[in-house]
Amino acid sequence: MEKTLSIIKPDAVAKGVIGKIIDRFESNGLRIAGMKKLQLSTQQAEEFYAIHKERPFYADLVKFMTSGPVVVMVLEGENAVKKNRELMGATNPKEADKGTIRADFAESIEANAVHGSDSLENAKNEVAFFFDGREIL
Ligand code: CMP
Repeated sequence: MEKTLSIIKPDAVAKGVIGKIIDRFESNGLRIAGMKKLQLSTQQAEEFYAIHKERPFYADLVKFMTSGPVVVMVLEGENAVKKNRELMGATNPKEADKGTIRADFAESIEANAVHGSDSLENAKNEVAFFFDGREIL
């Protein structure tokens, strides 16, 4: 069993598709082990995406991720990291396979509906960024 972090981004929260996205996870063997809705501060978004600090899109990404509330979740299941990424589809929704979350709900490479950890190691760090042990059930 693996755990991974999922974020429903401000565009998808504003569109009112939180439930539809969660259904994709639950219908495909990923259990919601932890969940909260929150407003990221600029400092939190900068820290969370620090790995992209040198990328040209970093400032816009931080601005977008703080533009409205997000939903953060711990997803648990067999091969959860890979499964979540398959369900999300490619980062750019124009390149995402039909039936994936980003193909169905995302607007652009920036407003791309969801984030998911890209490795087990990052998943551990990203889960710990948002959740303490008592919040994972
Ligand atoms: P995410 O999976 O949250 O990880 C980093 C985010 O940066 C990515 O999704 C995109 O939303 C965002 N981003 C914005 N522009 C780009 C770009 N040109 N290439 C990759 N990611 C980008």
